[in-house]
Amino acid sequence: MTLKTKQTPGDTSWFVHDRFGMFIHWGTYALGGRHEWLKNNEEISNEDYYKYFNHFDPDLYDPEQWAAAAAGAGMKYFVITTKHHEGFCLWDSKLTDYKATKTPYGKDALTPMVKAFRGRNMKVGFYHSVIDWHHPQYILDPHIGPYRNHPEREKMNEGRDQKKYAEYLHGQVRELLTGFGKVDILWCDFSYPRPDGSGKGRDDWQSEKLYKIIRELQPKIVLNDRLDLDEGWDIKTPEQVQPREWVKVDGQPVVWEACQTFSGSWGYHRDETSWKSVDMLVQMLVDTVSKGGNLLLNVGPTGRGEFDYRALDCLASMGEWMKRHDRSIYGCTQAPAEFTAPGDCRYTYNPKTKRLYLHVFAWPFKQLHVEGLLGRFEYAQLLNDASEILYATNEEEKLVSFNLPIQKPPVTVPVIEIFLK
Ligand code: GLC
Repeated sequence: MTLKTKQTPGDTSWFVHDRFGMFIHWGTYALGGRHEWLKNNEEISNEDYYKYFNHFDPDLYDPEQWAAAAAGAGMKYFVITTKHHEGFCLWDSKLTDYKATKTPYGKDALTPMVKAFRGRNMKVGFYHSVIDWHHPQYILDPHIGPYRNHPEREKMNEGRDQKKYAEYLHGQVRELLTGFGKVDILWCDFSYPRPDGSGKGRDDWQSEKLYKIIRELQPKIVLNDRLDLDEGWDIKTPEQVQPREWVKVDGQPVVWEACQTFSGSWGYHRDETSWKSVDMLVQMLVDTVSKGGNLLLNVGPTGRGEFDYRALDCLASMGEWMKRHDRSIYGCTQAPAEFTAPGDCRYTYNPKTKRLYLHVFAWPFKQLHVEGLLGRFEYAQLLNDASEILYATNEEEKLVSFNLPIQKPPVTVPVIEIFLK
């Protein structure tokens, strides 16, 4: 029996089937090319930071190419930063001039993107930062932001009204949830409440009120867990870590999604060299699904509006693997408890087809010994070429030993498809 998760307010039925999505971090920070937090990291003033706004002109931006790369990798949904912490908006918001339509680019960058991805039957997700390092009403705090260490910070806060900022936030979320058709995911980011009240959380965003607006406008939307609300969220979102087991809240398994980068930074980072290998990326996808989760893998496009060439390579290689192995991911989840994968392997399981997928991370010599399978299956094959996998059984040790070819099959992660009785 597979683990059952807590009922979610939003519709996560498609989400737990599709498993693999693309996160896109794009804004004026792409021009800095050194992390989406550069305004914070380098404590750049609003005046100085405008240089990126004044030069934002992604002439090579073609969202059809983005959607093609995502679909080609086997991704089924995307989540785009409509506004990140810097406060810059990709769509033609009526509530600010700090937006793409006011830059040299002069156009709404979000509408054509939604059209392109939707055109490939991909679900649409909006990341929206509740943090805003640009808005004149946003209270500057000592924890994060370009002015956190500024000696005049308290003075600069005089006349600022966080409630007016919350109104702005609610107004923009209303624009996003009424101006782009059905939105499948809202990914808010992030709250950092402090016991002494110096951080920011539900009161600063007026999260309860915001939550009502969200459910009123898009009742079935999948909402993440970063509005500092105890209830109402649909998914937990561990970030840049691989959980050791199915994510639980109060001991109960929940719907979850690991968000990961290719190299560390979410925004385009020209000089970052810590890029993950395709082996590691495919193993992360498999590991995530083997623990009942989704993988949201991030791309940070350049200031010219293209995906980083290194990301395109990785996406194409992941697509090669998915082409022959996607049924070990879509519609799959953690295997029932009685099936324990051998070392350096992971199980995914499709409860509808009753098929187990044994993903082999380290190719063993000749045999793979597996416990818990004796008498439980009627056939096994290598998934990439449907070639039969023969096996020996040892009743005494309750073992099944799959006979494997000496050479590792020519795929990133070989998979044995096991047809249960
Ligand atoms: C963190 C980063 C933020 C990024 C988010 C994505 O909150 O600070 O920049 O957008 O993670 O998960």
